[in-house]
Order: sequence, then structure tokens, then C-alpha cells
Amino acid sequence: MCGIVGYVGNKSAKPILLEGLKKLEYRGYDSAGIALQVDQALDVIKKQGKLEKLEKALHNNKVESKIGIGHTRWATHGKPTDENSHPHYDADYNFAVVHNGIIENYQSIKEELLAEGKVFTSETDTEVIAHLVDKYYKGDLSEAVSRTVKRLEGSFAIAVISKNEEGRIVAVRKDSPLIVGLGQNENFLASDIPAFLNYTDQFYILEDGEMADIRKEEVKIYDYLTEKLVAKEIFEVNWDAEMAEKQGYQHFMLKEIKEQPESVKELFKNKINAEEIDLSQTGIDRSLFTDTHNIQIVACGTAYHSGLVAKYLFEELVEIPVQVDVASEYRYRKPLLDEKTLVIVVSQSGETADTLAALRLAQEKGARVLAFVNVQGSSIAREADHVIYLKAGPEIAVASTKAYTNMVAAFYLVSLQAAVWLNKIDEKRKQAYLKDLIRLPELIRQVISNVETQIKLIAKEYISHKNIFFIGRNLDYTIALEGALKLKEISYLHAEAYPAGELKHGTLALVDEGIPVIAVATRKDLFDKSYSNIKEVKSRGAEILLITWEGYLQENDTVDHLVELPDINDLFAGLLAIIPLQLLSYYTALYLDCDIDQPRNLAKSVTVE
Ligand code: M6R
Repeated sequence: MCGIVGYVGNKSAKPILLEGLKKLEYRGYDSAGIALQVDQALDVIKKQGKLEKLEKALHNNKVESKIGIGHTRWATHGKPTDENSHPHYDADYNFAVVHNGIIENYQSIKEELLAEGKVFTSETDTEVIAHLVDKYYKGDLSEAVSRTVKRLEGSFAIAVISKNEEGRIVAVRKDSPLIVGLGQNENFLASDIPAFLNYTDQFYILEDGEMADIRKEEVKIYDYLTEKLVAKEIFEVNWDAEMAEKQGYQHFMLKEIKEQPESVKELFKNKINAEEIDLSQTGIDRSLFTDTHNIQIVACGTAYHSGLVAKYLFEELVEIPVQVDVASEYRYRKPLLDEKTLVIVVSQSGETADTLAALRLAQEKGARVLAFVNVQGSSIAREADHVIYLKAGPEIAVASTKAYTNMVAAFYLVSLQAAVWLNKIDEKRKQAYLKDLIRLPELIRQVISNVETQIKLIAKEYISHKNIFFIGRNLDYTIALEGALKLKEISYLHAEAYPAGELKHGTLALVDEGIPVIAVATRKDLFDKSYSNIKEVKSRGAEILLITWEGYLQENDTVDHLVELPDINDLFAGLLAIIPLQLLSYYTALYLDCDIDQPRNLAKSVTVE
């Protein structure tokens, strides 16, 4: 969701800014632009649409500069047009500004500025920032920016350059991520680490209320309220640039689906062996659960679906009541929690605004917060009381696959270990579970290779449909939900998931001749019940795709497509069952010619509520 980049150094800024913006494309955007500082003037180039349009415009622009800022915009205030794209500037082109987030009080500031005679050229909330900086500028850019941001309400990450101050970028963070990349005689600014991984692995991660004064030889960080210098620690990232490349795949999504055996292995490394689960490296221990009366899991989208899996696991293995909430709902109701509540927040990006707000709310009310996060150094990772890093590596496709898998796998580890700590399972049962978990990466690999060709054929059939239903019971229902979300977000087909037993309470009315119904049935104790539901839809004309165990369906007079999974304890079957569904959404979207890695209207990191 919107991306900021900045560069100051000895090299040509244009290609570096463009490269950084390309690396941030995955965040989602609908227009892009850059501003360069040249000979005491600013040159602003911006275009609605994909980065290729900006690239073309830059190609025709011969301006050379060693400092600039850039932006990919995901429209909130005003349509995606050239005028509304960032950077924005004041009437005299003294300052150029890029901004992520939302300025909630922009309307009243705009009225004030209009009354003073300022002329606005866009419909955005951002433009007020450029005019305010111009109004407050008395020869020092950081002072003007600091006065400006003190007037702003809402969430923002901002970067500003001035035609009068050569080689200087001033940037501010409040509730929207911003990092400074540190180089030799060059420094970088970005909203996310992958933007400049090709240039550095050393970063300052700005905290809320911090302002970075960036020049090529030095970076100073201030608290913009007190204006005092802040001593920052350098954050070293252990992702390398190659991990964030496509490596020959047509799309990041397919690459990330295929990386899942390795990413689960990476998560399990040093945390699991033939005899034990060892979570000591994560810093969590028995005490986290001994005093826990209930667990609340809070997240959004796919991360929320991983929480639904966890509810079944914790309740079955640990016998602790679990409530799972969508973060945007949780934060605005009055959740009942206290110091005996363990709140688990789950987030790939670690920057999702609603999840971060839920974390803060839970802490305010005295609960302990454990976070499952993929992105190192992200806000949620820094603010939580305990963190388990998901170790999925950079996930670039907007549709989450390997991060989801590692969220669920992390829940397998934690719920199982909690059950051991609380003596809820005996040694024999524990050993059986461990054996299965150790096999999981290899089984995921097998499923990918066994089902891909079959799934491609099914996807070819599905492209002619408009509505697709998913059903399942218990853990299978959570997988159905995730499968339906994947299909919706990248193929734009309407897909809905229902608990299989709930169909006859209304939804069955929608089932008609030829409608595809995907049934996930891996809970062995519930298979017969799920199969009855499958028959219900079949007898109303549905075309059935069933995902279940190899050899489990003895007589088949009902199922049109059968996808079989290798055997594992059915508590852990979800991570095998989700693979065909991820591949199905990928290939359906591919055959429908959709923009798979950057689906329309969606952003990778949702930093506004
Ligand atoms: O970064 P997060 O895990 O907090 O993101 C939460 C959701 O926005 C995310 O899972 C979203 O639903 C994905 N696009 C799903 O593929």
C-alpha cells in the first residue's frame, strides 16, 4: 500500500529510485512518480498507471540528479490520475513531498491554506503537507517539516526535498513504516526493506515520532516532538536480494508456492527434532501458558485464517478456550481480557494497521501479546511482548502463500509444545505428532509435484464459471476459507466458503446445475458427515472437486475431480490440503490473464485502516 523511496549519494538517482519502486510494486499501487533536485530546482515526473509509464516518461526526461524521492500511490483521496499521483509540491515548486497513510484533518488545513491564497492542484490529502512546509520554511528544512507534522493528525510516513537545500532528504514516520538504508557515501530511504537490499543490508528502522535527516555522508535521527537527537541501533537484515527476485518463475506467487517445503524447514530449523520441540530461541517458555485462562488470536485476511486453524489446535491439544477475531472488528469492540489472557497477533508484514492497533489495545488492557511475524524489525515485531519469526523469507506476491503456511506451521509447534508444557498429551502421542511434523516439508513437496498437472486441467474448466463454493468441516472449513480467499483475490471469481453442515441453512439455495463445489475432507472422524454434504450438493447438480486422503474414497459415484493427499495425522492435514487450492487459484488466474502478483485494488501491506 503506497511505497516511498529516496536516494542521496554520488550516483544517478533516477535508475536507483526506479529500481526501488519496482521492488515495492508488490505493495500495490495505481500511479507512480519521482522528484529530483537539480541546480536549485525540482523536477517532478508522475504518471497514473503502472511503473512502465513512469519509466517511459523518465526515459524522455534528460535531467540528471544525485538526489530524489519517489512514490507508488494506492489511491485513497482522489482517483488515480497524474495530478493526484505523488510527489506533490507547493505553488512555487520549492518543496516536493511523498506520503504514505492518511491525513485525517487535511480538510480543515486545506481550508486554512485556501483562505491564505494557496492554490491546490490535486484532490489528495497529501498536498496540504507541501503547502504547510512552504509556509513554515525559514531556511531549515527539518524545522519546517517538524512544524508541519505537529499539525497533522492521522498516520503518515513522509519524505520531503527542497530546491534550496542540496543533497538533503527529511523524512518522518508516524504509524506508517519507514526505514533508512545505510551505504558508503550514499543513503537510502524506503517504506520497506526489499527496496534497497541490492545496495545494503544495514538499516535504521524509524520509530513513530522519529524524523530522519538524510545526507549522503550522514544520517541523523531526531524525535520530532522534542527535536532531540536519537541514538539508533543499526538493524542488519539477513534476507539477501536474490530471495526477493523471481528466479525464472513467471510470477512471485508460483515461486512462493514452490518454496513452501523449504520455508517450513527453515521455520522448524533448531526448533524441532526427533524427541522435542525447542522454542528457547524464540524466548517463549512454559510460563506463557501456565497462567493463561484464554487465548485471543487477532489478525486480518489470510493471517486471520491461520488463527482459525489455531483455534482447533489449541482447543483440541491444549484445552484452552480460544477466540479468533478479525483485527478491524476487535479493535472497535470491547474485548474482555486481562492479564490471564494471551493475545496472539499474526501478521506477515508486521505493519497491518488494524492488527497493530489490536496489539496496542490488548497491551493497554494488561494482556500479554505474542506475535507471529514474518518481516524482521516490523512494528508488530518490535511492540509485541514475545515474537516468533515466521522465517518464510520475503513474500512479494500480494496473495499470501508461504507466509500462511509458516503461520499455520508455527501454530502446530506452539500448540503442541503448550500441550506438552501443560501435560495435556502423553509421550507416545507427542512422539507421533513430532514424527509427522518432521515429515511435513517433504510431504508438501510431494503434493506440489503430484497435483500440479491435474490442477492445471481443473483450472481450465473453472475459468468459465462465475461462482465457486468451498465447503469443509472443522479444520477443513478453515482451509476452505483460505482457498476461497486466494481464488477471489487473484482470479476475481466469486468464491465463498461454508461450513459443510451449514449449507442447508440457506446457501444451498444457490447451488445449481454445473456450479463447482470444492470440498475439503481430511478430518477422518468427520469424513462421512462431509460426504453426506457432498452428496447433497451433487444431487442439486454441483460439480464436485474433493480433496481427501489417498485411497480414502472407495466407491465414487459422486465426485468429478479427486485430489488425493499423502497420509499424515489429520491435525496437520491442512498444510497439505491448501497446496492444491493455492495452485488452483494461481492457474485459474493465469488462464484468465489476471495480474497475479499485484491483483487490482489490493495492497501487500495494509498500513491504513
Ligand atoms: O501482513 P499481514 O499478514 O498482516 O496481512 C494481512 C492481510 O492483509 C493479508 O493476509 C491479505 O489477506 C492477503 N492478501 C491474503 O493473501
